[in-house]
Amino acid sequence: MTTQIGIEDYGFATGSKVFDLSLLAEHQQISQEKYTIGIGQEKFSVPSYDEDVVTLAAAAASQITSRMDPAQLDSIRTLIVATESGIDQSKAVAVYVHRLLELHRNVRCFEVKQACYGGTAGLATAQGIIARNNDERVLVVAVDVARYDADSSGEPTQGNAAVALLVSATPTLLAFDHAQGLAVTDAMDFWRPNHRTTALVDGRASIQVYIQQVLTAWDDYARHGGRQFEDFAAFCYHQPFTKMAAKAHQRLSRHVSTELSAPAVTAQIDPTFVYNRVVGNSYTASMYVGLIGLLEGSNDLSNKPIAFASYGSGAMCEVFSAVVLPSYADHLHTERTQHTLGQREPVDFQSYRRLYYDYPNPTDGTAITIARETPGPFRLAEISDNQRHYEAC
Ligand code: CAA
Repeated sequence: MTTQIGIEDYGFATGSKVFDLSLLAEHQQISQEKYTIGIGQEKFSVPSYDEDVVTLAAAAASQITSRMDPAQLDSIRTLIVATESGIDQSKAVAVYVHRLLELHRNVRCFEVKQACYGGTAGLATAQGIIARNNDERVLVVAVDVARYDADSSGEPTQGNAAVALLVSATPTLLAFDHAQGLAVTDAMDFWRPNHRTTALVDGRASIQVYIQQVLTAWDDYARHGGRQFEDFAAFCYHQPFTKMAAKAHQRLSRHVSTELSAPAVTAQIDPTFVYNRVVGNSYTASMYVGLIGLLEGSNDLSNKPIAFASYGSGAMCEVFSAVVLPSYADHLHTERTQHTLGQREPVDFQSYRRLYYDYPNPTDGTAITIARETPGPFRLAEISDNQRHYEAC
């Protein structure tokens, strides 16, 4: 029997404040339906000054490690953090997270980047490591804070989240299939040069590149022995905004000439939108936020296959699939996810703009201490000597 490799546990974290897009529509004097219907978004999470990709990643990962016994913790020999909004050009977010989690010393820690595809690259790497040694576990964290310029077309599609996934040869939630479909093309649809804190995007072009990359990766997945479109109970896409995934899925359904009815095609993706509609774009975490929404919000998915279309601008796409394991329902953390989302503090327009654009980020070595605000387990306490200092709360 071949070993199953898949996801054994997960954790989720997002910024502790939340901004309602109706307030942005009011500021812009446009109909809020452009957001609720046009792009399929209602709200997005906003980080407090003492939250960033390190604290969010550690918060999500610590939910998993707190449920593990010492022997299981020792089996984590790789910690991968995928992000495109990292805090240092050299030192990996994973090293900060490793210390905050108090993991043992013998861990391979590194950061992965290819826009919103990074988390999937982390999962592919994890599968290779576990295939070599079935006793090891790999902790993969996908985390991002999505930032565009104020008053740009991207502003309503901001957000942030971290999803931690424990990958092992003893999965309880999902087991990965072998087939993978790949597509890469050199595109300038979305990028962030080193001197900028906000991303640049060619919005309309990015939608076309996304769709074309999904179709090309799907064809590669099919050529490599993948399942049929009709076999899937659900599809998880990268979700910069939920309507993007709906557009891509409708286009893919035409591409494969499915005989499924239009409502059946829609039902394949709708459950993946529930959390992303109120979290916003979390870049490399967003597809996995969609997966959590699907698992926590659907009727019995046992033994059902799920397809993933993981897109990252620039542009990379991977299509892969997994089967939901019968044990999955006993390993969900639905109440915790809903509590995390429900406890976010609503902020008004001025507070959102201040938090999103005036956050502590000295570029001249100035020392600042940061007031405690986050209800999360870790915080950014100080920036001094060009170093960021984190602490457990
Ligand atoms: N009621 C209902 N719908 C309305 C409406 C109203 N009152 N007003 C407008 N709409 C609809 C429009 O008809 C349009 O729908 P279609 O796309 O189906 O035609 C939709 O709302 C958006 O309207 P606009 O095209 O006028 O909006 P825009 O140009 O201001 O911005 C955007 C759209 C370009 C996608 C912008 O949100 C953006 O730049 N986002 C960032 C880039 C992005 O997310 N790209 C996705 C692919 S790249 C990627 O996936 C990587 C990543 O994470 C960034």
